[in-house]
Amino acid sequence: MNKKMTITSIEKAKGERPLVMITAYDALFAKLLEPSSDMILVGDSLNMSFAGKKDTLSATMEQMLYHTNAVCNGAKNSFVVCDMPFGTYTNKEDALRNAMRVFQETPADSVKIEGGVDKADIVEYLTSNGIAVCGHIGLLPQSVRSEGGYKVKGKSEKEKLQLIQDAKAIEKAGAFCMVIEGVKAEVASEVAKSVNIPVIGIGAGVEVDGQVLVFSDMLGFFEEFTPKFVKKYMDGSTLVKEAVRKYADEVIAGEFPKEEHTY
Ligand code: KIV
Repeated sequence: MNKKMTITSIEKAKGERPLVMITAYDALFAKLLEPSSDMILVGDSLNMSFAGKKDTLSATMEQMLYHTNAVCNGAKNSFVVCDMPFGTYTNKEDALRNAMRVFQETPADSVKIEGGVDKADIVEYLTSNGIAVCGHIGLLPQSVRSEGGYKVKGKSEKEKLQLIQDAKAIEKAGAFCMVIEGVKAEVASEVAKSVNIPVIGIGAGVEVDGQVLVFSDMLGFFEEFTPKFVKKYMDGSTLVKEAVRKYADEVIAGEFPKEEHTY
């Protein structure tokens, strides 16, 4: 995955191979994640795992621009998607003004917007004004307070039909791909088959066009809670705590620094 992905190569991947997306919030991790990912998402989940807030809703444009620049600095060869924060795309004008800031103030390749049929006019307005848009349907983290929690979608025939309509509306509005989150696997599979652009799953089973995970979840750094769909590929929090404990013990015992660490 050394060649930078483009809108065209991302769209072409559908039906050819699963796409790998992962979040990053800073240059250090972006650089480490770049060799193994097709797309890096600067998710507003940074408000939780980086900023320690209870949900994503208080993330701001300034935060997203800052972190997106940091990620782009670390992963110069990656296709970078910047999440539009809650409240920044409630109407076409605000959406375009804020998305323009992403394109003018960072080198990001795309923005991401949560919503389906209800946001299709906004997605269309952005794409017709030169902004590449990644959609986000299913469980919408920015709706956590209005929905009273994180609710899995696609549990009824009505929800399934709504999700298919959402996906089609986002595709028709010009999005080049979309994330589908927290959806019953068999429904997500049908949704993916109902459109011609890649549908990237998170908590949506394997029969979609790719997967996205939050890096701090999959590396085991985020300890607050672990959603069912997260696989921890590393026990980051234990490794960090053990390493720092060792450092502290050595400092207290006068064993660090040694000769080789001394000028
Ligand atoms: O903010 C984020 O990290 C996301 C992913 C959960 C897809 O939107």
